[in-house]
Amino acid sequence: MTVLKGRIAIITGAAEGIGKAIAERFAADGARLVLADLNPAVEALAAALPTDAVALVGDLSVQTVVQSLVELARVRYGRIDILVNNAGGGVIRPFLEHTPDTLRQTIDRNLWTALWCCYEVLPTMVEQQYGRIVNVGADSVRNGLPEHAAYNAAKGGVHALTTGLAREFATRGITVNTVAPCMVATPIVQKLLDEDNPWIRQFNAVIPMGRPGTMAEVASMVAYVASDEASFVTGQVISVNGGSTML
Ligand SMILES: NC(=O)c1ccc[n+]([C@@H]2O[C@H](COP(=O)([O-])OP(=O)(O)OC[C@H]3O[C@@H](n4cnc5c(N)ncnc54)[C@H](O)[C@@H]3O)[C@@H](O)[C@H]2O)c1
Repeated sequence: MTVLKGRIAIITGAAEGIGKAIAERFAADGARLVLADLNPAVEALAAALPTDAVALVGDLSVQTVVQSLVELARVRYGRIDILVNNAGGGVIRPFLEHTPDTLRQTIDRNLWTALWCCYEVLPTMVEQQYGRIVNVGADSVRNGLPEHAAYNAAKGGVHALTTGLAREFATRGITVNTVAPCMVATPIVQKLLDEDNPWIRQFNAVIPMGRPGTMAEVASMVAYVASDEASFVTGQVISVNGGSTML
């Protein structure tokens, strides 16, 4: 059992899928939350969770929106202990079938959201001499899944941001890690699996355990690296992947 009691956590991309599961796990572990998403459903989630939680609706690839998010957290709670950069999602298709728009969207959603959030939150963490940054990356960066090149360019940037920031802030009580899932059974993925969709089956085929991860399995690792217990873990990309890459 990890201990997040009383910790103040920002979780991005929390309206649905893995981000929602992370918010539910953090609430159960006693954290107080600032949730953010493009999708207004994040407001209903904040109201329903069994903890103190507030929500911001906006596009986190825009710096001024992220500044508002940090301001909301600081005014409401006076500190920010944990930042979970979960906002993202792939536009998964063969590289030459991307358009300039889908390439930009892929980088905006996955890399700019994480970059701006780190850039705007870190001054508070430095002031506190305490912080836990947990990025949600992707195991496809390691195993080179088909059709993932553009997405991997974005998530590879997130993995690289992790090692660089971890080193830069290592002596200031701040850890920076990435949790890298393989395919996760979010409602969208599960629907395709239930339909026995051949496109999604190929991504399951590389997982030795023969099944996607659950959202709770990803949230569990995020909760651990966000906790005080993980005080000597930094600069790591930790796969939660049923063995789809090893080592
Ligand atoms: N589902 C998987 O199989 C899988 C595998 C590896 C990595 N991931 C990563 O895990 C994270 C969560 O994925 P998911 O499957 O739950 O996806 P999802 O699409 O269900 O959730 C992502 C959330 O991020 C939000 N978001 C996207 N861009 C945003 C922006 N610019 N500003 C604010 N919010 C934004 C979306 O509105 C959405 O609610 C993502 O970073 C994704 O890339 C997912």
